[in-house]
Amino acid sequence: MIIAPSILAADFAKLGEEAKRAEDAGADHLHIDIMDGHFVKNLTLGPRTVAAMKRSCSLFLDVHLMIYTPYDYVEQFVESGADQITFHFEATEDVMETIDFIHRCGIKAGLAFCPETSESMMVKYIDKVDNLLLMTVNPGYGGQKFIPEVLDKVRFVRALSEKVVIQVDGGINLETANEAVKAGANALVAGSYLYHHANMKQAILELRGLGR
Ligand code: DX5
Ligand code: ZN
Repeated sequence: MIIAPSILAADFAKLGEEAKRAEDAGADHLHIDIMDGHFVKNLTLGPRTVAAMKRSCSLFLDVHLMIYTPYDYVEQFVESGADQITFHFEATEDVMETIDFIHRCGIKAGLAFCPETSESMMVKYIDKVDNLLLMTVNPGYGGQKFIPEVLDKVRFVRALSEKVVIQVDGGINLETANEAVKAGANALVAGSYLYHHANMKQAILELRGLGR
């Protein structure tokens, strides 16, 4: 089970300390949400923030691009220290090219799908990516409500591959994570739940215990 706190829910006045806090609490990955104000309405972080996170902790940096033409930005994020780049199927015509380019840069590649995108679109990429991100909210903001219909997609993908990492992102807490893990997810992104929890370490331990 991979637990990835999303820095989007952290205190932006002290991002470095917040990254370290996730590491000290036992997280596996640090999830960094990059939004361009076009693919999604919100504007968030960029390559310089990824570089700052690299200096602040030793966590695996899981960069989630919610931007158009992700191919054009791959190199910048690789240079900034991303260990995995996950981009949206809906954001580019060059899905396979972008996956290959990320791999050629020597890091892991992930492909993300919005809740309303048909699972039939996922099939041909399942064996090509390291991480398949199934959004459990509409991308753009933290703190939204989990969309349970996505669980069918998690089951669909898991039935096709035992190997692929299935990451769920959006509205994840102990209860919704339990549902997602039962459906076949093995990577959990959680922003509000972990960063606003009174005891992040305990919360991570509980998430890790799911599915055992
Ligand atoms: C939403 C982002 C998520 C967000 C999750 O577009 O991709 O990673 O940080 O936030 P919570 O866990 O608060 O729903
Ligand atoms: Zn995300």
